[in-house]
Amino acid sequence: MKLTVKQGDIAKVKDDAIVVNLFEGTKKPGGATAAVDKALGGIISKIIKRDDFAGKLNQTLFLPHVEGVGAERVLLIGLGKQEELTVDRIRQVAAKSAKLLKDAGAKSISTVLHGAGEGNIAPDQAAQAIAEGITLGLYEFKRYKSEKDNGNKKKIDEVTIVEFDATRIDAIKKGIARGEIMAEANCLSRDLAITPSSDMTPTVLADEAKKAAKKAGLSCTILDLKDIKKLKMGGVLGVSRGSHEEPKFIILEHKGKKKGKPVVLVGKAITFDSGGISLKPGQGMEQMKYDMSGGAAVIGAMTAIARLKLPQHVIGLVPSCENMPSGTAYKPGDVLTAMNGKTMEIINTDAEGRLILADGLSYACTLKPAAIIDVATLTGACAVALGPEAIGLMGTDEGLIEKVRKASETTGERAWPLPLWDEYSELIKSDIADMKNTGGKDGGAITAGCFLKNFVEKGIPWAHLDIAGTAWNSKDKPYLPKGPSGIGARLLTEFVAGLAD
Ligand code: BES
Ligand code: MN
Ligand code: ZN
Repeated sequence: MKLTVKQGDIAKVKDDAIVVNLFEGTKKPGGATAAVDKALGGIISKIIKRDDFAGKLNQTLFLPHVEGVGAERVLLIGLGKQEELTVDRIRQVAAKSAKLLKDAGAKSISTVLHGAGEGNIAPDQAAQAIAEGITLGLYEFKRYKSEKDNGNKKKIDEVTIVEFDATRIDAIKKGIARGEIMAEANCLSRDLAITPSSDMTPTVLADEAKKAAKKAGLSCTILDLKDIKKLKMGGVLGVSRGSHEEPKFIILEHKGKKKGKPVVLVGKAITFDSGGISLKPGQGMEQMKYDMSGGAAVIGAMTAIARLKLPQHVIGLVPSCENMPSGTAYKPGDVLTAMNGKTMEIINTDAEGRLILADGLSYACTLKPAAIIDVATLTGACAVALGPEAIGLMGTDEGLIEKVRKASETTGERAWPLPLWDEYSELIKSDIADMKNTGGKDGGAITAGCFLKNFVEKGIPWAHLDIAGTAWNSKDKPYLPKGPSGIGARLLTEFVAGLAD
């Protein structure tokens, strides 16, 4: 799909369909909607007057055949209340209209720049949100569908943002380019997470990271079993022992214009989490192919950071294993030694994410970073605490946490803080090792965070994102189809971009 901007009057464009909007409660349309209304002989005004369209968020009114405007079809979409408009609502509206028009058979569509008039959203931001909403909303994963694209499948080929004000065109172009890069990073994360684990082993994930790195202009190093042994990454070695799949440790690097300490992103990539010897129940286990979503978010973000040519020096680390039960698997009661020398008593082999992150974070510290952020589908407890609406956000540095939270608001991937008070660490004290890998049911997301803190050297600002509740969508949302959400890729990119200002 091609996304462009054009200066002109949307009432005159000759596409298959045009999209105009209305705020909730508007009695008389303004701007481009008014121009289209006039060309259609006042039909929109009449519909409003009859109370047939209130302009509620994502409410649609589709006119499949119209005369008077250049296009064949008109879609009117509600933006909700004017004072409640956000960029996220623009993403939603753009996604909803693109999906509806695709199903209606339109191949070329033109849209107004939602929110940039009376909505007071900056034109570049509105354009970015439209690009993101459309790209994310139209996302499909067809690899395993046997009836391949046969040419007559419905598909949107072209979307044009039509803007009357010529002085805004450059800003809109920039917004589109940024939005496409963000959304493509997000979609890459989705592709990686949705692929069945037998086709997305640590080795395949490493190959995919290499491919993505080459395309984006990142350097990529893959550590294999031999390297991992040499570095004494006891967490990765322990977790992967039960599987025939070799673990990998993926390193992606973006060198920006700015010299100085790197920001290090660490993502958990368990390509399948069976629970190991502490086997998970069968129901829903198929979803555990997405237990590499943290790693997928880091890989996605790194591609966007490189493509946007952000000035920061950024390094992405993705420890990757499969967690399986077998005669060679690690067992409850075992003690593993992480790369930084700390020992971990295994109570439950299903608490494996923190063990590979222990090595990921230890390695990150050797890079003398300015900050570390890790992302992981770490605990069911986090999903219980915050549900599907927020990422659990923890860490050691209030300033860093606030920056991450701000970025998350901008990208619509909301993160919410949980405390890491010392008292919680009592729950993971071990009788025979430096710590144990579970602290029981109470405060499970937090005790996992406390566990990770042991692998971050004092003085290095660190934030931890638990995406267990948000990395999989159980229902369709406007720009988030059911399945892996690819959450985190845009958030991490936005965070790094924010450091440049
Ligand atoms: N990958 C899971 C966490 C998870 C659960 C992610 C549900 C997404 C949805 C993690 O490895 C895990 O199994 N955690 C255990 C920890 C427990 C044994 C302390 C959990 O949350 O049950
Ligand atoms: Mn697990
Ligand atoms: Zn897991």
